[in-house]
Order: sequence, then C-alpha cells, then structure tokens
Amino acid sequence: MGKSIFIKGEHIIMSKSLKNIKGTQDILFDDNNIWQYLESHIHQFLNKYGFSQIRTPIFENTNLFSRSIGTQTDIVSKEMYSWTDQGGNNLTLKPEVTASVVRAYIQHNLGKKYPINKLYYIDTLFRRERPQKGRYRQFNQFGVEAIGSEHPEQDAEIIALAYNFYKSLNIENLTLKINSIGSEEVRNKYKLELKKYLIPYKDKLSTLSQKRLDTNPLRILDTKIDFEIEIIKNAPHIIDFLNKEDKDHFSKVLSLLDSLSIKYDIDHKLVRGLDYYCRTVFEIQSSKLGSQDALCGGGRYDYLVEELGGKPTPAIGFAAGIERLILSLNKKELSIFKRPNIYIINTEEKYLETSFEITESLRNNNLTVINDTLRRSLKSQMKDANRLKALYTIIIGEDEIKNNKVTIKDMDKGTQSYVSFDKINSYFLKKQ
Ligand code: HAM
Repeated sequence: MGKSIFIKGEHIIMSKSLKNIKGTQDILFDDNNIWQYLESHIHQFLNKYGFSQIRTPIFENTNLFSRSIGTQTDIVSKEMYSWTDQGGNNLTLKPEVTASVVRAYIQHNLGKKYPINKLYYIDTLFRRERPQKGRYRQFNQFGVEAIGSEHPEQDAEIIALAYNFYKSLNIENLTLKINSIGSEEVRNKYKLELKKYLIPYKDKLSTLSQKRLDTNPLRILDTKIDFEIEIIKNAPHIIDFLNKEDKDHFSKVLSLLDSLSIKYDIDHKLVRGLDYYCRTVFEIQSSKLGSQDALCGGGRYDYLVEELGGKPTPAIGFAAGIERLILSLNKKELSIFKRPNIYIINTEEKYLETSFEITESLRNNNLTVINDTLRRSLKSQMKDANRLKALYTIIIGEDEIKNNKVTIKDMDKGTQSYVSFDKINSYFLKKQ
C-alpha cells in the first residue's frame, strides 16, 4: 500500500504508482494514426457493402448475455465484468456486440421497418481473459450482422466480405476455416455421439475437458493441447449428422465461395465458443498471430432473435478483433506518419493575438497547424518544428509585425518567403 495523505480533511491512500489495469492498453502518439486509418477504412469498406452503423450502450442487463451467449460458455461463466448498481440492477460491460444488436433490433422493431437489416459496429469490449499477445481484457472489434435472410447467399456475402476486408489491407497468409453445425436438434444428437466417443478417454483428458464433457462437450473439439488433439482426431464429424436442408445450405455456401475463388478449409473441429450459432460457422486465421490466431469469427444465429423475444428471424454475422488486425499488418503499413503542414513560431507574448488569428484562419482552410503554448525561444520552437517534421514554419517576430508580413520557411527545401498577412492563406492553398 502507498502513503496516506489528507486532502480537505479526507483521508486518501495514494498507491505508489497508478498503472493501467492488466489487459488494457494506452495508445499513444503515432500509434493512433494506424487506428484512425483503420477505423476510416472500416467505415468506407462496409458502406460499400451497404451496411449501416449501429452504436449500442457500453453496458447492458447481465441476462441479455447469459441468455444469448449461454451460461456454460467461458465468456458468461467466468469472463464478464458484472456488478449490481445502486438500484439493484445486474449489469455487465459488453463482452461482445451481437446480443446488443439483436436486443436493439427487437426493441426498435427494425424487422418491421426493413425486411433485411445489414448493420455494422466498431466497439470496445470487455472480457476477463488471461492477457497475452492478441488477447486483452479490454479490446476492440468491428463486426457486421445481417438480420433477415435465411439464404446461403447471405452467408457467402458475409464470409466474402470478411475475407475481402483483409485482402483490401494486403494481409497475407490467411486461412478461412468453415464448418456447419446444423440445428439445435442436430447438435444435441451429435453431442451424445461425441460424449460416447470421448468417455473411454475421460481419464486422459485435462480437468477442464473432463468438466466440459458434462457441461459443453463441443468445446473439447477446440482444444489446443497436443494429446487431446490426438484423441479427437478420430472423433465423429458433426457434418455427418446434418439433415438434408442443412447439407444443401452448406454446399450452396461453399459453391458460392468457389465462384468467388475464395479458398477455404472445412474444419470439422470448428464449433465456436458462443451458444447462439447454428448451420454455418467460420473463422479467418492468420499465421502471423501465434496462439491467438483468429482474426475474426462468426456464423449463423437463426434462433437468437426469437430466443430474445422477437419474431423468428434468421441472421448471420461476424466480428473481427482490431488489435489482432494491427498485429497482422506489415510494418510498412503500420508506419503511417502524419506531417503537420505548418508550425507557427511566435517570438513575443505581445504578438499572440496576431499569431492566434493567423493560426485559426489557416486551420479553417483544413491545414494542420501547430502553435507553441510554452512561450519557448525561437530556437527551441524551430527544434520542435523539426521534431514534428512540419512541412513549413511561419515566423512572427518584430520585423514581421512592423511590415504586416510573415516569414514562411519551407522546411524540406530550406528556402524562405516573405508573405503579407492577407496572402498567407492563398500562399498555402496554391501549394495544395
Ligand atoms: P468472438 O470469436 O468471441 O465472436 O470474437 C471475434 C473476434 O474478436 C475474435 O476472432 C478476435 O479477433 C477478437 N477477440 C475476441 N476476444 C478477444 C480478446 N480478449 N482480446 C482481443 N481480441 C479478441 C464474437 O464476439 C461474436 N459476437 C462474433 C459474431 C458476430 N458472430 C455473429 N455475429
């Protein structure tokens, strides 16, 4: 514990060093350039597909998530940041967005407004996972949800969108994994068969998988432990339990992906960690990511709208981790460096009004203009302009004020011009 102090009679304990919470990150300086670039790329890209943005609150009633994601899932059973507020409401910081989108879809009767709702989001989420590279407790996703179509072309559109998104950023070494997990009835039948297959190996399984054998046997297929991978190699495949409609749906999705020349691996072990899925599930992985290799994941959730109180409405979507996207980018793409257009060098306090006026009128012309608020010397302001790699500096000093002119220095060429106050804007506009 740190030292204690009194402020206005209040006893306050200061911790020695206040640090950000484990699994969260501060994003500083130029690192934000890549975030801003990606966010605007996401908006542009998804608008091209005709998706419109939805923003939902950062917290919701806890039961929204337990009812949709499932009480036996890792997220609901141990990862949610939940609390009871002063009014006795059980609340949770969103661990994912699909449940909130479906809640909003039902609440605002969106299905009545449009037969198909294609929505997207960029959001900050919270899961109390064990932090490691690519896995955080506060992280960001963008995602899409198409609510209203049961047809396989909707699946293919969503999967192609996800795949093309990564291609649009030149991300290499992508693997698209796809599977079909059918309806609930199919899954229940399959769970029994899988359990039957695994029971003889029960003693060899990890403690977690032994527990899952009773609670959620499908998740054992997700294992990353070598000896368990070996055990499930010969486990039955869910695809063999699908009914005719599920099978036809899946083969149409695959043939549409073929027609777009999108390569995929059918992965019999892919079941996804959230309970609301049915039929098509998919993930895109990058070999650059290490153990947390899923760039994005999603699938169909045809029963969720009804389960949360709406009319039966089919839907499909996916979400993509933005931190993992950044980890998979090439170094070249990461070094987006923005150079300010102009650095205003003011040499005297008494010229502040003039320098403020010039600064604002340049900003009104969409130029990035930096000014000094530390009253530094001309030399140190020039040094700062160099550090920031400003394209131009404008010097406002005694001579300049006397003659109603400023000195403009081209920082790359080293040349100087003397420009009257009323011509400063047109000088820069000509350069654009
Ligand atoms: P999810 O697989 O839980 O699915 O998350 C989607 C993506 O979010 C992951 O593939 C990963 O890139 C990123 N992600 C998840 N957890 C973390 C974490 N702790 N740290 C960093 N990144 C993370 C869903 O969230 C579903 N709502 C997707 C969906 C939308 N399904 C249908 N519609």
